[in-house]
Amino acid sequence: MFGSIARRYDILNHLLSLGLDFYWWREMARAAGAKPGVRILDVAAGTGDSTLALAKRGADVVASDFTIPMLALGPEKFNKSGVADSVIGSVGADAQQLPFRDSSFDALTICYGVRNVENREKAYAEFNRVLKPGGRLVILEFSRPRRGWLRSFYSAYSRYLLPRLGGWISGDKNAYTYLPESIKRFPPQTDLALELKNAGFTDVTWRDLCLGVVAIHVGIRGNQRECPQSPTAPMSC
Ligand SMILES: C[S@@+](CC[C@H](N)C(=O)[O-])C[C@H]1O[C@@H](n2cnc3c(N)ncnc32)[C@H](O)[C@@H]1O
Repeated sequence: MFGSIARRYDILNHLLSLGLDFYWWREMARAAGAKPGVRILDVAAGTGDSTLALAKRGADVVASDFTIPMLALGPEKFNKSGVADSVIGSVGADAQQLPFRDSSFDALTICYGVRNVENREKAYAEFNRVLKPGGRLVILEFSRPRRGWLRSFYSAYSRYLLPRLGGWISGDKNAYTYLPESIKRFPPQTDLALELKNAGFTDVTWRDLCLGVVAIHVGIRGNQRECPQSPTAPMSC
């Protein structure tokens, strides 16, 4: 699905979010603590706008995604913005099976990606594995608006305008019917926080942006990881 809309994806993002997407990515990059010397894995990086926000703050970023036509659009963007040196890799990879060593990143970000992952538990286990102890998981995702009036407006917007406009511009109506449906199915703020705690992340917090249209969840990888061997295996497993 993402492969078929790759070329129109960016313009639709900017249009459908009324340009707020840039602000949301900037806040995500701040929450990730992106700065020179910090190594970040941007999972489900798509066409690279989330990666760009991290690279602009000087972090060393690896972009990964399993839709190669989306990932392939990133490098030109990084070059044009003068941050190509900060993007140290673009890797085709499934979030549920990451081809990276244990404890190799200071932070892991996933923007509008985790909602699409088939088995989130599996992905969280991978996020835990590739993060260093104390490393930060940052999720930027569509969420539930807090105010009733905004919820009604947003619901009408998602149901009527978004699929029509998205379908018309991208040429793929299904993709933009899927979007509001997947948002509806995705856990609200408190449930997502609980899900992260259950997956072994500590100090889980979240912050609503635009009254909860999107939310940024942050969790810290604890020191303990589940060991597949016997209960007497050393903690370094
Ligand atoms: C809505 S785009 C988000 C792209 C980018 N992070 C952004 O902020 O614009 C979602 C991306 O998630 C990717 N994705 C979905 N499931 C995935 C998985 N299991 N592993 C890796 N990438 C995945 C899709 O290929 C798509 O590029």
